[in-house]
Amino acid sequence: MDILVKSEDLINKDQIYVLPNSKRYNLTLVRGNGAYVYDAEGNEYLDFLAGISVCNFGHCNPRINQVIKDQLDKLIHTSNLYYTENQPELARMISEISFPGRTFFCNSGTEANEAALKLIRYRGNSISKGKNIILSLTGSFHGRSSGSLALTGQKKHQEGFEPILPNVFHVQFEDINDLKKHFNDDIAGIFMEPIQGESGVHPISKEFAVEVRRLCDQYDALLIFDEIQTGLGRTGTYFGYEHFGIIPDGFTLAKSLANGLPIGAFHIKESFKDFLPPGKHASTFGGNPLTTRAGIEVIHILYDGLLNHVQEMSKLLIQSLESLKNKYKLIIDIRGRGLMIGIDLSVHSKDFLDNAHSERLLCNAIGDHTIRFLPPLIITQKEIDLFNNKVDHILSKLL
Ligand SMILES: Cc1ncc(COP(=O)(O)O)c(C=O)c1O
Repeated sequence: MDILVKSEDLINKDQIYVLPNSKRYNLTLVRGNGAYVYDAEGNEYLDFLAGISVCNFGHCNPRINQVIKDQLDKLIHTSNLYYTENQPELARMISEISFPGRTFFCNSGTEANEAALKLIRYRGNSISKGKNIILSLTGSFHGRSSGSLALTGQKKHQEGFEPILPNVFHVQFEDINDLKKHFNDDIAGIFMEPIQGESGVHPISKEFAVEVRRLCDQYDALLIFDEIQTGLGRTGTYFGYEHFGIIPDGFTLAKSLANGLPIGAFHIKESFKDFLPPGKHASTFGGNPLTTRAGIEVIHILYDGLLNHVQEMSKLLIQSLESLKNKYKLIIDIRGRGLMIGIDLSVHSKDFLDNAHSERLLCNAIGDHTIRFLPPLIITQKEIDLFNNKVDHILSKLL
């Protein structure tokens, strides 16, 4: 088989053979290193998207790549019929950085949410006949499989796929009165993102999160945080929920857990471990020795002082955006936590993005006016200075 290296050839082939469900930008990326990616023609791009918060530890991170290479030559897969290396250690580490519990492994974010949803329903049904209602928030994004799609609080993603999984209802984002109206004994659980990412970087408030915890305790419902985008250091702490001073009953992870290898995980408190008994849920690939080995290294890297680094870089990134906001007045809002930052613009986000690509900066546009930045957590002052120069140039062209 020939190896295609020219952008044009790759694009032509993609457009003939790949299902056209993804709207792609006109960029062909073939190589990566740290915070940079390179197109087929060798041009360098500063990556402030990190594969949508997946390659958080840098492209081709040497520590992670080395353990993947070693594991590749040892054992890739056996199935979950047997005990294997790495899965138990990664599960132990996830407990260590969160709270004592059990972890189920799968291959993506949507699968992690499916597992959580099934556990919530199974437990609810085992308590009483009507306890099967699941809540999530308007504006949320929880994935594309049928269960996660029902949780996702954005009609545009659900349209055309009706009937949607029943007994899932959406509470108005940040509306405590609406939250209270939705709660009763039939609520089996609630899903929330600590910061809604796909709808434009909208953090939930501590006040709202604390009230959700209180209502879950009152009505014996499970609180699950979807930490798929916010987890593992992205917001400057291991998990986004740490900013609220509460402990959920469980959370889901995926994206950066293996720095680019497909993995998902659902962690649940020890006391709820028996609500997905053998035969009720499983994954063929989930938790295989390869992806979980990468996950172990990811958590070792977090242990080595990366959280403090994220907090420092976050300050620098926000300072940079604040100064650009003062200079150009085209930025009208800056929000987020850690290295998950969104800006609202008075100009169209598509115009910003087109110019960003010409400036060789990767980020993404959400809706008509929002730009999301998710740089790898390993960026340094050098990348922030470069980012500042590029955004300065982009904004000057949009005046
Ligand atoms: C918060 C959140 N949940 C779930 C998902 C779905 O993850 P996946 O695409 O791996 O299924 C995403 C993906 O963007 C996400 O951001």
